[in-house]
Amino acid sequence: MASVLSSCVQEPTHEEPSSSVVMDTHSHARPAEAVITHLDLELVVNMKERRIEGTVAHSVRWNHGDQLVLDTDDGLEVLAVTTPEGEVLEHRMGETTPLGTPLIILAPEHPDRVVVRYRTSPVAKAVQWLTPQQTAGKRHPFMFTQGQAILTRSWIPVQDSPGIRITYNARITVPTELMAVMSATCPQERAPDGVYSFEQVNPIPAYLIALAVGDLEFAPLSERCGVFAEPSVLQAATWEFADTEAMLDAAEALYGPYRWGRYDILVLPPSFPFGGMENPCLTFATPTIIAGDRSLTALIAHEMAHSWSGNLVTNATWNDFWLNEGFTVYFENRICEAIYGAEYARMHHLLGHQDLEATVAKLTAQGRERDTHLRLVLEGRDPDEGMTDIAYEKGFAFLRMIESKVGRERFDAFLRGYFDRHAFGSMTTDAFLEYLQQELLGPANVQVDVAAWVDGAGIPADVVLPQSDRFQKVEAAVAAWAAGTPAPELPTAAWTTHEWLHFLRHLPGPLSPDRMAELDNAFGFTRSGNAEVLAAWLELCVVNDHTAAYGRLEEFLSTVGRRKFLVPLYTKLIATERGRMMAQAIYEKARPNYHAVSVRTLDELLDRKASGTPVQF
Ligand code: BES
Ligand code: ZN
Repeated sequence: MASVLSSCVQEPTHEEPSSSVVMDTHSHARPAEAVITHLDLELVVNMKERRIEGTVAHSVRWNHGDQLVLDTDDGLEVLAVTTPEGEVLEHRMGETTPLGTPLIILAPEHPDRVVVRYRTSPVAKAVQWLTPQQTAGKRHPFMFTQGQAILTRSWIPVQDSPGIRITYNARITVPTELMAVMSATCPQERAPDGVYSFEQVNPIPAYLIALAVGDLEFAPLSERCGVFAEPSVLQAATWEFADTEAMLDAAEALYGPYRWGRYDILVLPPSFPFGGMENPCLTFATPTIIAGDRSLTALIAHEMAHSWSGNLVTNATWNDFWLNEGFTVYFENRICEAIYGAEYARMHHLLGHQDLEATVAKLTAQGRERDTHLRLVLEGRDPDEGMTDIAYEKGFAFLRMIESKVGRERFDAFLRGYFDRHAFGSMTTDAFLEYLQQELLGPANVQVDVAAWVDGAGIPADVVLPQSDRFQKVEAAVAAWAAGTPAPELPTAAWTTHEWLHFLRHLPGPLSPDRMAELDNAFGFTRSGNAEVLAAWLELCVVNDHTAAYGRLEEFLSTVGRRKFLVPLYTKLIATERGRMMAQAIYEKARPNYHAVSVRTLDELLDRKASGTPVQF
């Protein structure tokens, strides 16, 4: 990795670019020389050839140099580099590294705008191209992009660093039977000519530029909230997300005005590799949260919360990822408490803490204690490797601990001020800790072992955990069943998803085929339409070799691309020789249905030699 260039990211609070720079080791950009401030995209999406082709015009602020360096990746082809007037600009592709191939533009005249004509390759990692078969409607193809962490460069030549912010406009041409949406103000109607215009007026980092094209329709949820989905999914989605406006009101009451105009949700096909992605104005969401009972909508609260933590105040580098996700989990929990009550929030917290304990145990067993620190060291690695539950749940636990020491009122005032003060800027861990000391811990005269939390391994002893009456009842039910009470007699009638998950996670093991069948007959887990419950159950089925569920397991693994479900299931499968054979057979068939980010993780897990990807971290 010695050849990997480093870029310097300006801290937005400083006037002089070179006086305060933050290294982003995951971008070739050199903003101290020239930095982009705005993009105009003119693109055609070719669904048949699986390519995006057109121009990006960058508005450039020249600092101290004559070179504009942009990131590209995965064989993105640069066709021409000119001024808007058509004057050719000298440029070359730099050396390819695991970060991609820099496009180096030499322009001693310092033009205000630089136009790059380009086309993407069909293997651009950000983009997933779906066949009609992979959609809900089965009649039209679909495509979407996923930028975080460093994938936007595979579909736009751009300074792809979270510390560099741009506004953007776009004109996207798609086949007339399809509709385009972006992380910007979106048209809500089909355009008969297939041309869609977008505007993102707030400065955002490149990882938040996103595009999706498919057979989409829009339905409103409120004045400023709505849903885009395939027609056959739209009604269920609208029902499921009915609390969105109430969540947004609750969020604003906590930490200040929502600054992005509209908040819409795009429901993707099931191969979407994440639960949700906080693309500004338009959250991208997996359809697996449409459970039919609104029980998985915390995910919407999470992505919405990123409109403050992440999108408004952004991690300066991927080492500071916990500033995005830890704050967001905290905020998500507060929104859920406001909408669904304190007991819901306590259960949600405890399940998250269980995930944290499991992640710490796993990373420690792998000799990766360093990755259990909040402040990461990801230089020379794919930032994806740092994107574990540590950032989410240890980050949340750190903030919750501080809240308990200073009191909620003071903590809320602090957070609100933090978002206002740093709006549309980026934040490093050091800058946050300094702000925390100055604005909160100092004035409140409170001592916190910041070093243990931020630069230490595992879970510090002063972690604060809630008590949940409902979870205690679940634990009593588990004990009763273990002691011989038949499953149908357990008091489960009023249980919610959280309680079922707690139940499934605490069953005694190993379980005999009869005991597994007893549970399945009583509670119908294998038939569950709740993806969280089903995934937890299927894990148990693998561990206890409950073969009756294997058909459902294969179907789930073949249709759902959400990495959070795939990784634990495949991991459990490969623990036995027979399971490994099954995993490999299923994976061979399912792999073409997964997005590149899931494929990368699973290729490694299943020891499959990657093909078609020229450079690997
Ligand atoms: N920003 C993340 C998704 C992400 C993280 C994409 C890292 C690429 C790299 C998103 O906000 C997220 O955290 N999604 C979670 C949702 C959950 C915690 C409610 C997911 O997808 O599971
Ligand atoms: Zn998140």
